[in-house]
Amino acid sequence: MPVPVPELGTFNHVPETKEQLDWADLVTVDLSQLGTPEGKKQQADILISAVREKGFFYVRGFGISQERVNRQFAMGKRFYELPLEEKLKYVPKGLDEGQFNGYVPAGRRVIDEENQIRDKIEIYNIPSKAHRRLDLLDFVDIVHRVQRRLHPRPPDRDRGATRGGGRICPRKMLRLSTPKSSIRYSSYWHSPLELPEDYFTKIHQYQVKSEDHLRYMRYSKYPPEINAKLKNWSYGHTDLGSFTLLFRQPVAGLQIKYPSTNEWKWVKPQDATLTVNACDALQFITGGYVKSTVHRVTVPPKDQQHVDRLGLLYFSRPHNDVKLSTIKDSPLLQREGYTENEFEKSGNPVPTMEEWTFAKQKWQRTKAGTLRPDHATATILPGFNEKVYA
Ligand SMILES: [Fe+2]
Repeated sequence: MPVPVPELGTFNHVPETKEQLDWADLVTVDLSQLGTPEGKKQQADILISAVREKGFFYVRGFGISQERVNRQFAMGKRFYELPLEEKLKYVPKGLDEGQFNGYVPAGRRVIDEENQIRDKIEIYNIPSKAHRRLDLLDFVDIVHRVQRRLHPRPPDRDRGATRGGGRICPRKMLRLSTPKSSIRYSSYWHSPLELPEDYFTKIHQYQVKSEDHLRYMRYSKYPPEINAKLKNWSYGHTDLGSFTLLFRQPVAGLQIKYPSTNEWKWVKPQDATLTVNACDALQFITGGYVKSTVHRVTVPPKDQQHVDRLGLLYFSRPHNDVKLSTIKDSPLLQREGYTENEFEKSGNPVPTMEEWTFAKQKWQRTKAGTLRPDHATATILPGFNEKVYA
């Protein structure tokens, strides 16, 4: 017999942990301060030291209310509550070959070799509209179509809430992550590297095909006795694109590895901020001047282990046809000696962003034993060895 559909409503986040953790010391970049040359210069200096020293930073003033963000969390939660057989209909063809848009089920990786415990990570990726195969409205439709079938006659206000929440968020995220759409952001990011003003604009245009995507992600909780056995919920890794944008995540678990000291530090949730990290493509095109920082998700503190950890992220990447050669026309990089990346140093062909993306995705998504030596340090393209960090 059908039961009433719960309203979408808003998403109630768990309170922040009371535990004293070893938090990372990260700076905050305020996009609302970019209106003046002085403000722009000040924020640019903050940004460049952030991406060089820690690789992670917070962004404030990005123009999306927490209420809007919470609607996305609510929608993601509703999707993940669907029966597994429904979600499995959206697994992309070629998942093992590096395709990633759609639903990726949990349990593909062993995260504890000794006890043979598998991950409980579910992912749903939605590509940017420029090359849509499956977009946000399809996602909303999936949630509603299945809900309607399972629970006839959903309240109208619920449908409206979901649609409204679904439309605005990815566009604003794109505006933030693709400098083309934001003069402020573009003129902000080129200057520390002494590059032409449109340098990053040109390689992050919304209309040009890239593998940008929005992600709803769920780390389902483990029982306490399993958490007691686990060191981490995911292995350490770097992201493959330009920047990853993580909406405020109050369930502590994200840790970053300081490039300078190799210490693992917890990332503290900050109100009204995004947590942003620089990724592999930026490291390649700056010849290593910008750091792609290793990070992982570890076991949350005890006072937050009773909830699933739901995440909302945006992955920003250069166009597929961008060749990941070191930028040659930056006086700064020339002066400082950052003139070659791993491919160039080893005399191997420099991949395009598309080649790099699918080589790394294939390696990341493989069902191989993660810490098996031939996987953990695999050459995923000639000249570049990847690494799994415990
Ligand atoms: Fe990551």
